[in-house]
Amino acid sequence: MESDDKGLVCVTGGTGYVASWLIMRLLQQGYTVRTTLRPHSGQRDLSFLTSLPGATEKLHLFHADLNEPDSFRAAIEGCTGVFHVAHPVGNINAIPEDELAKMTVEGTLGILKVCAESKTVKRVVYTSSAATVVYSEERREVVDENTWSDIDFTGNETHYKHLEGTSMVHVDDVASAHIHVFENPNAKGRYICSNGKLSLTELSVFLSAKYPDIVIPTVDSLKDIKGFSKSICSSKKLVDSGFKFKYSLDDVFDGAIQSCKEKGFIS
Ligand SMILES: NC(=O)c1ccc[n+]([C@@H]2O[C@H](COP(=O)([O-])OP(=O)(O)OC[C@H]3O[C@@H](n4cnc5c(N)ncnc54)[C@H](OP(=O)(O)O)[C@@H]3O)[C@@H](O)[C@H]2O)c1
Repeated sequence: MESDDKGLVCVTGGTGYVASWLIMRLLQQGYTVRTTLRPHSGQRDLSFLTSLPGATEKLHLFHADLNEPDSFRAAIEGCTGVFHVAHPVGNINAIPEDELAKMTVEGTLGILKVCAESKTVKRVVYTSSAATVVYSEERREVVDENTWSDIDFTGNETHYKHLEGTSMVHVDDVASAHIHVFENPNAKGRYICSNGKLSLTELSVFLSAKYPDIVIPTVDSLKDIKGFSKSICSSKKLVDSGFKFKYSLDDVFDGAIQSCKEKGFIS
């Protein structure tokens, strides 16, 4: 573990996939981290956070909910940076879309207001999604930080359709990219972090060849699924700023499949 004390930062939504990995890397790189959990999290097993190397001394847990933006104040005040990663991701169909949008927009604006009032926060890194750039009636070969999805284009596609032409990146590269833009004094605006794209049929060929012991839907069985072919998400801005991707798509799938095997999801 790096020993330098890099100061105090806040990561919202510490129980999440991206946030927990980011916390692990921040602790490893010498940051002291405050993270926010929803109040009901007290009932959960949080050992995946509390047992991280360095967590005993340098990880501090706070309660906060996007429905009450001011609840983030205690965790944010005194920090030099905030990584806002908390977002309702799972089971979102249980909440009407307009309510969900209102909660996340007002929650995010409230967090920005707390950051501005803190006088200590120098930079906020907000985690978004490829969904903000790839969905459009207009076919674009490549999208970058100047592109915005058409707001009316999303709908009720099946999960398989969403996989048509999915941009991919290893979660560890995502965590490193967060820290890179936080630490880069010239960082500004949006950054895409994507390290490759596979179509659904390419994915079938790739996975079948690599994992012959796992049942993967065949190319033939997928041929009638008509998704929309999404554009390539360009990470040129991130790479030009000095960021280096560490992992290939092989690493992404090796890690994911190994993890699924360990958890018993596949044998
Ligand atoms: N995972 C990916 O492949 C991926 C790819 C691209 C972009 N992203 C973006 O990364 C962000 C995080 O995604 P993720 O995959 O890490 O999601 P996740 O594992 O579901 O984590 C979401 C986090 O947000 C918290 N949260 C949900 N509703 C909240 C609320 N009302 N108030 C406070 N916290 C709340 C959750 O808390 P609970 O545990 O209490 O529910 C959890 O800690 C999202 O913006 C997502 O779009 C993720």
